[in-house]
Amino acid sequence: MTITHPELAIDGGEPISKEPVLIHKPSITDEDVRSVAEAMRSTFVSGDGPACREFEKKLAAYLGVKHALFLTSCTVALDLAFMAKGFPAGSEVIVPNFTYTSTALGPILNNLKVVLADVRPDNGNLDVEKLESYITEKTVAICPVDYAGNPPEMDEINAIAKKHGLYVVQDTAQSIGSKYKGRYTGNQGDASTFSFHGTKNMTTGEGGALVTNDDELADLIKIMREKGTDKYAFLTDNRTRGYYEYVNKGSSYVQSNINGAMGITQLDRLEAMNARRREIAEYYLDQLTGIPQLDFLKLTEGVEHNWHLFGILVPPARKYWVMDALRAEGVLANVHYTPLHRNKYYEHLGTDDDFPGSMTFFNRLLRLPIYPSLTDGEMEKVAAAVKKVFTQL
Ligand SMILES: Cc1ncc(COP(=O)(O)O)c(C=O)c1O
Repeated sequence: MTITHPELAIDGGEPISKEPVLIHKPSITDEDVRSVAEAMRSTFVSGDGPACREFEKKLAAYLGVKHALFLTSCTVALDLAFMAKGFPAGSEVIVPNFTYTSTALGPILNNLKVVLADVRPDNGNLDVEKLESYITEKTVAICPVDYAGNPPEMDEINAIAKKHGLYVVQDTAQSIGSKYKGRYTGNQGDASTFSFHGTKNMTTGEGGALVTNDDELADLIKIMREKGTDKYAFLTDNRTRGYYEYVNKGSSYVQSNINGAMGITQLDRLEAMNARRREIAEYYLDQLTGIPQLDFLKLTEGVEHNWHLFGILVPPARKYWVMDALRAEGVLANVHYTPLHRNKYYEHLGTDDDFPGSMTFFNRLLRLPIYPSLTDGEMEKVAAAVKKVFTQL
């Protein structure tokens, strides 16, 4: 017997919102447009230009790190983080099972072996309790991921890394502006990799950055991102030989000056954009706390959240029904990452039974709309739709 609820839009009732409330929208203003136009008019449109350098300086100052290197994406930042280390082929890198493919591609592109680790069922972050069980004599690195913008227990992860002599590449793709124990993310790993893709809290269209406090690593990455040349030092030191040399291997990962110009104005507004996200998150938490069968993602102790994503945890058996019911109400709720081992390219790395935390999290997770331009009216509709759907669960 199928149970229907005539008041729900999914069963023919009036939707809460006739206009769909989108899951995500980037915030682009006239300031961004002006900044980009200026860079274009300057005719310096190629990579590592003055706007890129200015953006890097501002980003490093904002985060409180020594080096911020602007790149074409977070994916290439992860690639470079491993390219620079030159670990022996077949060395093992621990990657959480619940992440985007890029976290694993960094090691894979450098002939390293990915070992998938289980995550916490309550927030999708690396499960620190299980972490040491994945370490072998071949392990060289760990890649914690700040899922939804909420970093994992980095002090504990760094202590384990130190004990075993491991390199830590923190995939901070989602956490720009979040703090861990009073310091911005970007300061906890040996290297950290941000994304400025259009879906992130600040965007340069496509883009990313590798940030680090390690001078040697930064120098090497400046070479490797520029086709293995010492062009960065050549431009900076104003050497007079008139040419630069090919000093290492590398690839072409420098960002255009146009994107650098957008980074400057986006970064100027980041705190304000994140403040609006916080307002929306606080409203959702206030409105939705106490609804039976609905939970929120657990915030790591000591974290100030950038609210990149707002997730809710729902009963696994009803996840897709809840999603469809919310969508019918006009709220474009969505799922997120399929655990890596569930994807064709990674299926040889384990089964559902190997990743109980990851499967529990995945089976319960839905995302609600959150972004700076979401209006008060829209955010009220989102909360109203969740309440309406959950009364019929
Ligand atoms: C955890 C994580 N890592 C890496 C990436 C890749 O970022 P980019 O698109 O900048 O390469 C993403 C993108 O969403 C991500 O969520």
